[in-house]
Amino acid sequence: MAAEAVNVKEFQELARQVLPKMHYDFYAGGAEDQYTLKENEEAFKRIIIQPRVLVDVSGIDPSTTVLGFNISMPIMIAPTSMHKLANPEGELATARAAATCNTIMVLSSSSTYRLEEVAACCNAVRFFQLFMYKKRDVSAKLVQRAESSGYKAIVLTADTPRLGRREADIKNKLIVPEFENLKGLLSTNVVPDGGSSLAAYAKETQDASLSWEDIAWLKSITNMPILIKGILTHEDATRAVEVGAAGIIVSNHGARQLDYSPSTISVLEEVVHATGGKLPVFLDGGIRRGTDIFKALALGAKAVLVGRPVIYGLAAMGEYGVKRVLELLKNEFELTMALAGLPNPKDAYLH
Ligand code: FNR
Repeated sequence: MAAEAVNVKEFQELARQVLPKMHYDFYAGGAEDQYTLKENEEAFKRIIIQPRVLVDVSGIDPSTTVLGFNISMPIMIAPTSMHKLANPEGELATARAAATCNTIMVLSSSSTYRLEEVAACCNAVRFFQLFMYKKRDVSAKLVQRAESSGYKAIVLTADTPRLGRREADIKNKLIVPEFENLKGLLSTNVVPDGGSSLAAYAKETQDASLSWEDIAWLKSITNMPILIKGILTHEDATRAVEVGAAGIIVSNHGARQLDYSPSTISVLEEVVHATGGKLPVFLDGGIRRGTDIFKALALGAKAVLVGRPVIYGLAAMGEYGVKRVLELLKNEFELTMALAGLPNPKDAYLH
């Protein structure tokens, strides 16, 4: 048997070997020139950690709380669509691994198991990611179903009025399965336009008129806290505080929307500063190492989310692979705190 992957990059390579090209490209790719895709990872590499020594690090503890929920590490699962394309157990396997690792999974609206099935499969704390559809009542129904199935928060994706141009999917003529949550609510029988069927579907269904004014409506239909995902500027961070968001996720959608948007780590401090500590700030995009997590926390994130690393684990080894990816990241993060002599990453010297 081949040696087990020892880091996220090796899981990515395993995933590349087992997945059909169309699916690997869908998971791994970004928008247009993929400038931001590279930057999400490269920007972390440009930050250096200056360690302290002779600090007692025998009792460091990576656990934290997110919206009052205790989790074993500051690493959550970002919402990513269509896990069945990576493994037949799909989102069920991902949720079980989240439960085993005692962390939070954000389930995508575009999942390949119904949100109720994911809720019933295990006791992971789950948040629900919401897209706004032109048929607003469809989004409202999803929110209500999530709430009655025990999801604890809504993650509103704010960066997708239209789908970014993912050229690999266009060239591969990506075919997507029906989205389980939307069966009977939205017709997902999209007439293919010769390119990516996800792009055609999004054009048909996504509500490009979604704006800040709609947050009040969303708040009026649920008691769940609302996190806004996709914020990259201090102006929007201020706005999120004003509309009563429960938290912000600094994200560029894994570089799949606006190419030449900034890497997430490069704007984190600006966003954190604008919130004035009034709400927690989370970050996703390009996290591949424990040192990346340490840097994000040092710059003010409460926790991070990982998207592709989870999918690579799932594709390579199913539920066990997701668990291993999460454990590897957690272990690397703990080791970073120890070797940096900084049980609290906020005290770090970064360059
Ligand atoms: C995503 N992302 C995403 N975001 C969202 O709000 N709803 C979704 O359905 C999806 N689907 C999705 C599919 C795939 C294949 C990827 C790679 C990403 C974005 C995701 O939540 C997150 O922002 C990024 O994945 C974070 O970057 P990394 O960790 O993948 O580098």
